[in-house]
Amino acid sequence: MAGTAHFDRRAARYDRDGAHHRVASLVVASAELVDGCRVLDVATGTGFAALEAAGRIGPSGEVIGVDLSEAMLGEARRKAQEARAANVRFAQGDAERLSFSPASFDRILCSSALALMTDAPRALRHWRDLLKPGGLLAFDAPSTPFGFSERAAAAAARHGIRLGFSDLADTPDKCRALLEGAALDVVSVRKAIAASGPLALDRAVAMFDERIDHPAWRALGEAPPALRAAIRADYIRDLAAAAVDGRVANEIALCFAVGRRPAP
Ligand SMILES: C[S@@+](CC[C@H](N)C(=O)[O-])C[C@H]1O[C@@H](n2cnc3c(N)ncnc32)[C@H](O)[C@@H]1O
Repeated sequence: MAGTAHFDRRAARYDRDGAHHRVASLVVASAELVDGCRVLDVATGTGFAALEAAGRIGPSGEVIGVDLSEAMLGEARRKAQEARAANVRFAQGDAERLSFSPASFDRILCSSALALMTDAPRALRHWRDLLKPGGLLAFDAPSTPFGFSERAAAAAARHGIRLGFSDLADTPDKCRALLEGAALDVVSVRKAIAASGPLALDRAVAMFDERIDHPAWRALGEAPPALRAAIRADYIRDLAAAAVDGRVANEIALCFAVGRRPAP
């Protein structure tokens, strides 16, 4: 399916990056899951949040994980089978155009994916409609610092290319505005460091090359090759200047937000 190439390609290796699992756990922890909840995990990927939620809602609850990428869903299904999780299922679909009945979920989770939606405010309103009154929506979004991605975005900006993921909901105030814009009551908003380990220089360069077809880096991927090469060279110069003993700091901060659909 169009637009899934990056995650299809990364699916088998995706779980090696421990940061995604940590972030998903924090999103799940914020969502006040209880026995019997019906949960939707949008852009579920390899199912980190969905599987963790499934462990918290008991056999009477249900989790549905939706993703565009069949390869990511394949990993999620394999993990669910291994864990013998009977209260979770996965379906291919576009998180921005879901056909579930309105007001049919107690919780909606979106971990490491809001910034990938083509229209995040509209996606939040769509998900709000799927929540039962009183239901909770929990998401995270990139903040600053944002490790090597922020350095890449800064290098791109110096060459006139804007990477849209970087400022969608990078402050608690923007998260509040997004929740309120979707007619959700703000339950909690906070900024936290989700990962802090330094990165070897060659790994940081490899990650730039691996991400070039990442949907959030679309503007960079579509830039003329000579401009992309100039941005890459600028990024490497910046890394080299910041490196200590061949490693660069890679601290990653995220904003975590939870909103409630008000009762009518
Ligand atoms: C960075 S991964 C996050 C996966 C997972 N939520 C996690 O916490 O690890 C982003 C995922 O969003 C999916 N995705 C992007 N846009 C989507 C859309 N419109 N509908 C459904 N899935 C989407 C990608 O296929 C990918 O699996």
